[in-house]
Amino acid sequence: MNRLTTAINPASPTFADNRAAYLDLVATLRERQQWAIDGGERRQKSIDRHHSRGKIMVRDRIDLVTDANTPFLEFSTLSAWGQYEDEAPGAGIVTGVGLVHGVPWVFIANDATVKGGSLLPTSIKKHVRAQEIAEENSLGVIYLVDSGGAFLPRQDEIFPDKDHFGGGFYRQARMSAMGLPQLSVVLGGCTAGGAYVPALSDEVIMVEGIGRIFLGGPPIVKAALGEIIDADELGGAVKHTRVSGVSDYLAQNEREAYGKLREICETTNQRRVDQRQDWLDWTEPEAPAYPADDIYGIISADDRIPYDATEIIARLVDGSRFATFKPEWGESIVTGFARIHGHLVGVIANNGIIFSESALKATHFIELCEQRRVPLLFLQNTSGYMVGSESEAGGIAKNGAKMVAAVANATVPKYTVLIGGSYGAGNYGMCGRGFNPRFLFAWPNSRIATMAADTAETVLVDIRMGGMLGAETSDEELAEIRSSIRGQYETQSDPYYATSRLWDDGLIDPVDTRDALGLCLSLAARQPKPAAGPGLVYRM
Ligand code: COA
Repeated sequence: MNRLTTAINPASPTFADNRAAYLDLVATLRERQQWAIDGGERRQKSIDRHHSRGKIMVRDRIDLVTDANTPFLEFSTLSAWGQYEDEAPGAGIVTGVGLVHGVPWVFIANDATVKGGSLLPTSIKKHVRAQEIAEENSLGVIYLVDSGGAFLPRQDEIFPDKDHFGGGFYRQARMSAMGLPQLSVVLGGCTAGGAYVPALSDEVIMVEGIGRIFLGGPPIVKAALGEIIDADELGGAVKHTRVSGVSDYLAQNEREAYGKLREICETTNQRRVDQRQDWLDWTEPEAPAYPADDIYGIISADDRIPYDATEIIARLVDGSRFATFKPEWGESIVTGFARIHGHLVGVIANNGIIFSESALKATHFIELCEQRRVPLLFLQNTSGYMVGSESEAGGIAKNGAKMVAAVANATVPKYTVLIGGSYGAGNYGMCGRGFNPRFLFAWPNSRIATMAADTAETVLVDIRMGGMLGAETSDEELAEIRSSIRGQYETQSDPYYATSRLWDDGLIDPVDTRDALGLCLSLAARQPKPAAGPGLVYRM
């Protein structure tokens, strides 16, 4: 593969301006991530109380379980950002992938310093999403349980529906049956529904003095049966390990529990992260030829000024080598083969609006990757498919639909990164959340919405004027419509609004993207060759 050349001049004033603006975005990201770790209204009191009970903070727990000096890819750190009166940093649950004896595991760990680790609607979504990632990537799950169970005031949003609390147990039971180990360490409360997390696990460790499991806590037992009993006597670690058998191992403290957990992991017979299957071509990784932090200077501070996706690709892929597919046709989409941390991957990246030719080129390229069993990486930066009479006459609707259908039916692993705009049907054709990429990450400069704020404002004013209320709409009302729609679209297309609601698996710094994708690809490479998909019928 040939090395890409670059037209970027890091000494130019534009580069310096862009870089300064992007460094502000990165600083904001880091600040907000720190908020997820230790911020939030009245949080310090909870943290102090947690420590005073001799308990370890959630991320330190994960650190004690995972192999020393190995990365932990945390998902959706900023979930719940701006929601729940800012009282639920990270939605009170930490999820991600980490290595234990070289084997990748999904971690689902409650943060008891946030609402007692109870599960809000976003926490449930995060729990279920982590299980979905585990299942799709054939990973066992480690549950570090310290939770008040369902967040009772919002029970209608977490209990009854598909993919609510029940969906988590459904997945847990089925993953165990698939041979994906489900292991629990009980480090706090597991009440009512919460009791089923350990109870459905393959092996359970309970920590004396802090771990408790009961279907009904002491107040419920008192109310129902008049029985007065202390929490440890009812469902503590000793009771469940020596009497009921709900737990398999008793640990005197957290550290002992994590040592035991690591020993259990050694017996689970799972593939290590470097035990690749041979369907996916792999060679020794090579660092990109251009520094990753050039990306800060490449992305325009003014999002109306486009930037060349090829320059981004050159800073993400091995050796900046890229075998471009069909470079002289449909130029608003860049397609080609590259390697990320040694894994062969087909890259589809936007250079702005998607025209018919670009849609057809992308469709053709997806077919190539399907035929060759090569994973797909989508780099989204588009305002959507081209509109207008010429475009419609050229069949943009059917050509865009071919791309959307090809993405929907591709069975090779798919990964998506929002590196800029993700608007309209461009989001679908470029493998947005609805198209089930295995992972979807977003950069802090990204934007996601049906359309840009100014377009939405124009469309809604036109609709109002053309409709039944048009004739009686005053100028003041029009101004009010404009301003409220603009405000709404600006708020809702913000990447923090998106990540808060788990429309992605996390906001990441552009310089970390290559490593994150490398880990994601290595998870797929452990798995058997993906089965070929059904034959497609194109509407020509
Ligand atoms: N729903 C809503 N809020 C809950 C909650 C739940 N299930 N469990 C805990 N919380 C909240 C508390 O109201 C408190 O909120 P605040 O910080 O705004 O005051 C915070 O979490 C901490 O709870 P607290 O009881 O002070 O902490 P603790 O460490 O002493 O005890 C638990 C933690 C989980 C053992 C205890 O809160 C508990 O038993 N919760 C209820 C468990 C339950 O019955 N769940 C039913 C699940 S179906």
